Amino acid sequence: MQQTITKPHVTAVNGNIVSIVVPDKILMKNEVAYVLLGDKRLKSEVLRIYGNEADLQVFEDTQGVKVGDQVDLTHHLLSASLGPGLLGTVYDGLQNPLETLANRDGIFLQRGNYAAPLDRSHKWSFVPLSRTGDRLNAGDVLGTVQERGLVHKIMVPFDRHDQVEVIWIQGGSFTIDEPIARIRDRHGERPLTMQQEWPVRVPLPADLLRRQLVKKSYPAEPLVTTIRTIDTFFPIARGGTACIPGPFGAGKTVLQTLIARYSAVDVVIVVACGERAGEVVDTINEFSQAQDPQGGGSLMDRTIIICNTSSMPVAAREASIYTGITLGEYYRQMGLDVLLLADSTSRWAQAMRETSGRLEEIPGEEAYPAYLDSAIKSVYERAGVLTLREGTVGSLTIIGTVSPAGGNFEEPVTQSTLGTVKTFLGLSYDRAYKRFYPAIDPLLSWSRYREQLQQFFDQKIDPGWTTSIDTLLDLLRSAEGIYQMMQVTGEEGISLDDFIIYQKAHFLDTIYLQQDAFDPVDVTTPMDRQQTMLRLVRDVTEREFLFHNKDKARDFFVRLTNAFRNLNYSATNSTDYKKFLSNIHTLLTERTA
Ligand SMILES: Nc1ncnc2c1ncn2[C@@H]1O[C@H](COP(=O)(O)OP(=O)(O)OP(=O)(O)O)[C@@H](O)[C@H]1O
Ligand SMILES: [Mg+2]
Repeated sequence: MQQTITKPHVTAVNGNIVSIVVPDKILMKNEVAYVLLGDKRLKSEVLRIYGNEADLQVFEDTQGVKVGDQVDLTHHLLSASLGPGLLGTVYDGLQNPLETLANRDGIFLQRGNYAAPLDRSHKWSFVPLSRTGDRLNAGDVLGTVQERGLVHKIMVPFDRHDQVEVIWIQGGSFTIDEPIARIRDRHGERPLTMQQEWPVRVPLPADLLRRQLVKKSYPAEPLVTTIRTIDTFFPIARGGTACIPGPFGAGKTVLQTLIARYSAVDVVIVVACGERAGEVVDTINEFSQAQDPQGGGSLMDRTIIICNTSSMPVAAREASIYTGITLGEYYRQMGLDVLLLADSTSRWAQAMRETSGRLEEIPGEEAYPAYLDSAIKSVYERAGVLTLREGTVGSLTIIGTVSPAGGNFEEPVTQSTLGTVKTFLGLSYDRAYKRFYPAIDPLLSWSRYREQLQQFFDQKIDPGWTTSIDTLLDLLRSAEGIYQMMQVTGEEGISLDDFIIYQKAHFLDTIYLQQDAFDPVDVTTPMDRQQTMLRLVRDVTEREFLFHNKDKARDFFVRLTNAFRNLNYSATNSTDYKKFLSNIHTLLTERTA
């Protein structure tokens, strides 16, 4: 006779989707469950519930799992641990610190092995800012610790729905498990440590916004990346959203790394979804070795990397973006500027497609789930600027790469992303092939922040900035038409005037849009230098030149371009810089005298 199993157990296995029956327990969507396999516990998440049955996505290889295997339910939503010690760590999508796992279990990660996200032995020097008797709300600051280069605020847990009273608080040196304060609310008293948990799929400030403890503000400033094409032509707002779609090998990852390195932000979170393992290792090495251009230590000191390489299970890849965003929201809550880079969101969407297929959901376009669009929106919607209780402002900017198969931007992930983000930096195969880096195509890309930030640019950078960018984009468009014509008729087929327009656009492209990532000076152009440069460029593009013929025009632009290129390679105000600047002026006056 078959024995009746009354405990939650497996009823079917389909890849990483495992169906279970839960005879007499209440189930919660997105709660964490563990499938028990011998002495291993495979972490899973409840995706779909029907009656007392449910489908779990298992974040591990399910080989060996069979019908009847027991399942532990935790009644806790899939959550991230928040507290000091996040910076400088490399995690997997479920926030396992990879270095700790590797030191403990060897570099070949074993399934079912997990580690605490935060170092539990490290002692942090806690400086209280609240006092006994203070009445505080969720997110209010209890005190601070120094985490690498940052002042890390320890806040009242975000899940406190009522005001709490501090009944005891102490300063000193503590681990994240030791109590630093006690609070009382209508449910009673409880100790607080420096660590708290937050469910990754729920926006961290959702409740604070509802209770008007924080306010969402309109992004009003650009995120300065020091990449000229972005800052000048296709700006990204601080607290805004952007995507970088581009065909295979067009330079998405390199561009993201440059943005991570040079953007003026306090914290960078890199989510590597499904990229090749070697590429992720390169990123980690690069970040550890790179000096932080904002001074001080290594770039890694203000970075958190979350990686799910293509060799890791697909389900954890889907969760990794939410884990990354939650960490970003946590640091934003401290009044910091956070930048989250997701590379690549296509691989993340593919993970979703795989899971949805296994769940036999009704497929949408190209077999992606019908909720692809809303899933993408729900990710980017978590970006934004928040005005916090003490009047401080924090921001979370989200930039995702998209890798459409064959570089076809018509596919669903690119299209949904385009409908969501406000800056579109389209990389083109053509430009990458010609080694015009960054391969951002100026005729394809756009930024809705150009209008939104018009006031900032026109008042703080240069009056008429926005109009002059419009004019330069028009120049590039006209030149493209002339270039196409030249392809058919040859140079002889176009007028000298058109040839000069083409030369001006080519000059703008070569010395402004293109930027040499391997030159220590050219790799990063601060905003004030972009302003100086752009004035010089406009002096050229708006000037009336008199040339006798096309050869003379070409010669002149070659010399001018070389002079500008040399200027680009010279440190601001250095002797060389002054020399090349004077060369440029001489060339220009000779020509118009
Ligand atoms: N800004 C740049 N300057 C110089 N070389 C670059 C630049 N960007 C990309 N490259 C070259 O192109 C190669 C591919 O770039 P990258 O890996 O960023 O492409 P990708 O779009 O991320 O590719 P994939 O689709 O495989 O993820 C780099 O290894 C480098 O040689
Ligand atoms: Mg890449």
